[in-house]
Amino acid sequence: MSLLRDQCAGEVIFVDVLENHMANLAATLAQNFPQDQYSWQVRCKDLKKIVVPAIDSQLFIIAGVGPHQTIEFINSLCASAPDTEFDLLICSVHGSYSVREALIKQGYGLKNERIIFENNRFYEAIYVSKSADKAIVNTGSQMWHWPDAVHQDYWHRIVGHYRQKAKADPLHFQPIIERYETLQNAIKITHN
Ligand SMILES: C[S@@+](CC[C@H](N)C(=O)[O-])C[C@H]1O[C@@H](n2cnc3c(N)ncnc32)[C@H](O)[C@@H]1O
Repeated sequence: MSLLRDQCAGEVIFVDVLENHMANLAATLAQNFPQDQYSWQVRCKDLKKIVVPAIDSQLFIIAGVGPHQTIEFINSLCASAPDTEFDLLICSVHGSYSVREALIKQGYGLKNERIIFENNRFYEAIYVSKSADKAIVNTGSQMWHWPDAVHQDYWHRIVGHYRQKAKADPLHFQPIIERYETLQNAIKITHN
């Protein structure tokens, strides 16, 4: 709704599979954003069935789902229109490392990224484009502000999470831990 209010886009399309939620959303939008002044659509549809239209300047925002689903959505959007470029703003629940790997595989570059701390939960907002020159780093790169205690806390939570996972599967998770440790060491050196 803030995208509509701030007129960030020519049109905003809301997608979810939940019929009652989408009906409520359509009613709220109709009340607050009359369609003779604002352009929006509400689609009750499986995101995996969406075919990206062949038009310029599109941004898909995927938020609030876990890494497995987020990766499925990214891959199905890309597969639906291999020749159409579109930007993505991803804010998954946990698992940004694997989400970033999927974005790298699909040929995305980094436009911007940010750590968000809300209701005692951490999120990474990752804004990517195929036309962006900057490489996506799977641990995150420019989003880290090491002097920020909240960011340090986030780093400790991630590493703690992977250390737990590494107990059962060290071969897979130990290299991930090392990448986060390298990142922290590099940041420490930059700030010394
Ligand atoms: C935790 S909610 C997040 C809602 C909203 N995106 C946000 O960030 O506030 C996750 C939503 O993903 C929706 N969802 C799950 N699988 C989906 C799919 N295949 N296609 C569309 N929506 C889906 C669920 O119905 C649910 O409403």
